[in-house]
Amino acid sequence: MRHRLAPAITVYIMSDTILDVVNLKKYFYHSTGLFSSLKKEKSVIPAVDDVSFYLKEKETLGLVGESGCGKTTVGKLILRLIEPTDGKIVFNGMDMRNLRKSELRKVRSQMQMIFQDLDAALNPRMKVKDILKEAITVYEDLDYYTVNKRITELMNQVNLKKSKLGNYPDELSGGEKRRVGIARVLAVKPRLIIADEPTSALDVSIQAQVINLLRDLQEELGLSYLFISHDLRLVELISDKVAVMYMGRIVEMGLSDRIAHKPMHPYTNVLWSSLTEGGEKTISRGLSWQVFDFGQSVTGCRFHPRCEVFKARGNPKECTDPQNEPKLTETGTSHYVACHFPLL
Ligand SMILES: Nc1ncnc2c1ncn2[C@@H]1O[C@H](COP(=O)(O)OP(=O)(O)OP(=O)(O)O)[C@@H](O)[C@H]1O
Ligand code: SF4
Ligand SMILES: [Mg+2]
Repeated sequence: MRHRLAPAITVYIMSDTILDVVNLKKYFYHSTGLFSSLKKEKSVIPAVDDVSFYLKEKETLGLVGESGCGKTTVGKLILRLIEPTDGKIVFNGMDMRNLRKSELRKVRSQMQMIFQDLDAALNPRMKVKDILKEAITVYEDLDYYTVNKRITELMNQVNLKKSKLGNYPDELSGGEKRRVGIARVLAVKPRLIIADEPTSALDVSIQAQVINLLRDLQEELGLSYLFISHDLRLVELISDKVAVMYMGRIVEMGLSDRIAHKPMHPYTNVLWSSLTEGGEKTISRGLSWQVFDFGQSVTGCRFHPRCEVFKARGNPKECTDPQNEPKLTETGTSHYVACHFPLL
């Protein structure tokens, strides 16, 4: 089957593709100014702006980028928790936007999200046992014996002691809460998991345990992951492929090793160079990195105000041409970059 990754790109897609995202867009509209609601003034946030990628079965795609670049929005769009402005999401050969409600419900059980916020995902008024029971029976009507058997199986899968079943989320450590969250997601037997910062707010040693758990589960259950994170080291460790997002767009995508050690986009290069020995490990905390301000209008390449290559080349007009925003283009085997002057 021919596969269009972006308007300018055509690649062959393998039959084992589980998720295909094509030209996905999500624009949020905000009222601006004190009397804006009266004057109907709106500013637009192109949180996801023409994003395309695909994911194969049992593969992990890491999605990285600074705070506010649109990562969580991509995840929510895939699950149709929010409606896209435009674009296509094909899961297991089915166009998610054309599904009827009953079909969507069925497909939803196959794709699940581990949410960024550890606490928001678990109902504080429910014991672990009830949280899991609710998840197990959400799509299936099962008898008492089967539910209990499945609860035991899930607790084993995430390495949690059965004694924790009687606890409320507040009575658990951060790592245990995350494990319950993962068990809850596994309860519906998904094929694709969107893991949104699954290790945030956890100690480094617990982070490693969660990552190892996710890898073991992938092996055991044949799961595919979209792994969203600020932490470049973790992304490099767990991902087969990595996509780098900047202000709503993917600017580079390729095999994890290539992205980390031979990046072609100046932004990717700066991201991974910030991983100095004993230095800053995440993007967002670095001094020179900031939360995006979609309110500032940038013409041409969105990265040009911060791009060293742009400066070094004497501000070439290609980079600021509003008609010529760089598009994701294949530059090597499974390697894509959106830059007029990629690093070689
Ligand atoms: N429901 C919403 N309404 C309006 N704007 C939104 C909404 N959700 C997200 N945004 C905006 O869209 C942009 C992308 O947000 P998103 O949460 O996807 O970023 P992110 O990359 O996940 O950031 P972080 O790393 O901090 O989690 C931000 O500017 C955010 O303020
Ligand atoms: S297109 Fe120009 S400004 Fe944008 S990343 Fe490439 S060199 Fe930098
Ligand atoms: Mg997020």
